[in-house]
Amino acid sequence: MTYSLTTPLYYVNAKPHLGSVYTTLACDALARFQRLEGQDVVFITGVDEHGQKIQRTAETQNISPIDHCDRISALYSDLWTRWHISNDRFVRTTSPRHLPLVQAFFQRCEAAGHIRTGHQEGWYCVDCEEFKDDPADAKAPDCPIHRKPLEWRDEENLFFCLSQFQERIETLIADPQFIAPASRRREIENFVAGGLRDFSISRVNVSWGLPVPGHPGHTFYVWFDALLGYLTALLDDGGAVDLDRLADIGWPADVHVIGKDILRFHAVYWPAMLMSAGLPVPKRVFGHGFLTREGQKMGKALGNVLDPEILLERCGTDAVRWYLLRDIQFGEDGDFQQQRFMDLVNNDLANTIGNLLNRTASMSRKWFEASLPPVSPDVRSEHPLKQPTEQTIERVRQSIPALAFQDAAEAVLQLAIEANGYLNEQAPWSLMKQPGHEEKVGDDLYAVLECCRVIGLLLQPLVPGLSSRILAQLDQRPSDDGWTQALRWGQLEPGVGLPKPEPVMQRLELESPL
Ligand code: MSP
Repeated sequence: MTYSLTTPLYYVNAKPHLGSVYTTLACDALARFQRLEGQDVVFITGVDEHGQKIQRTAETQNISPIDHCDRISALYSDLWTRWHISNDRFVRTTSPRHLPLVQAFFQRCEAAGHIRTGHQEGWYCVDCEEFKDDPADAKAPDCPIHRKPLEWRDEENLFFCLSQFQERIETLIADPQFIAPASRRREIENFVAGGLRDFSISRVNVSWGLPVPGHPGHTFYVWFDALLGYLTALLDDGGAVDLDRLADIGWPADVHVIGKDILRFHAVYWPAMLMSAGLPVPKRVFGHGFLTREGQKMGKALGNVLDPEILLERCGTDAVRWYLLRDIQFGEDGDFQQQRFMDLVNNDLANTIGNLLNRTASMSRKWFEASLPPVSPDVRSEHPLKQPTEQTIERVRQSIPALAFQDAAEAVLQLAIEANGYLNEQAPWSLMKQPGHEEKVGDDLYAVLECCRVIGLLLQPLVPGLSSRILAQLDQRPSDDGWTQALRWGQLEPGVGLPKPEPVMQRLELESPL
């Protein structure tokens, strides 16, 4: 089965920031999980390169738009390589394959009678690339999001007849599966209940855009072009740019993961466009929350933007992945706090999980000839730690596909806490001093190491580097296939040699602000 998922296609007006890293890491965890579950995954990311915002950014730098796009696109793709993002596609909306797709799609909408010409006037925010037509917004001389002056626009445009989709969109969003998390649905319900209005899909004064076929002088509105990037990405499999092929190669997307600010485009405009073109709508749109830093909105003005390069260099991928996925409920807003970041990484990963493995492996090596203990078959089928381990596996397997990464991370951590508690209660270091308890000690050490093995496997999608290091300490490798089989209790081979223990997670010591 194909499982396709997407990050937003990031604007190339500026360098990547923590927000883009956040979404991409979450998608990467989901993609890795689905691969382990045996799905044929197509994980799509990429960049959105047209429109006035980007044209203006290039102008201010005195370079051509395409040179600017090439530069920032490369920053994104290099960054994802260095963060070990496992994307299958990286789509650029300036790619030669994208234009014929956008034009063919438009022609379908036009043939279906959903395109008209019309007059559009109103306040426009170039940074949002959006008319601010809500009464509350329209009065504001500044964009309420970007705090920059709105620009008055009065032009002839092509319109997409969104109003014709009122009922179909109402039915779509009434499906509780479609918009996630549930808390975000209300906003879209209100917007749709206000009555859907046709929206303009072309511009006459923007040269940095794709030409609309049959309408000289018009270029496509950047959002019309950008959303279609998801389809171009899927079709970028070596085959023809043919909309009729999509059903066989992963369309509809299983989930579009986006920030809450662009939910309306994905949950209303995009499905209507697809319906018009006779294509299925995405199965789910997940709108995650926004990140602040130490309680403040991140922005150039405040000088508090967190640079993903610095984060990567000073902290490494595992620490950042763990912190973001474990501390913030995906879907809700979150705050990046440096002290808490260090505390969680050090407590959860270095102390709780790392030390559990380290001390248990050390005891096993010390008392059982540098090997795993030679345990009885009973322990491999039954032990007090078996049930909590199985419950953890179940919780992780339910949470990640629902994008509840925090639940998954907490479940794994809980298992480590439980195994640590068990070890402390049984106190093998005392038992070992009393004759005749060697077997019991061996059984318990084996069981705790078995928990560690499962923890290592379950961490694979969340913190892949740490996962490999944990498994390597047990002479195991991450599973590429056969995850389900590997997750069964009792797979460690008794008596097998154990490598010399090494810390699996370096403590994070950040003396200066990131
Ligand atoms: N180009 C459009 C998306 C087109 S999708 C076909 C776009 N790009 S963006 O670069 O401006 O934003 C990309 C994503 O970053 C959005 O999902 C947005 O919500 C997210 N974020 C921007 N700032 C953010 C935070 N501070 N925190 C979390 N995510 C944030 O919109």
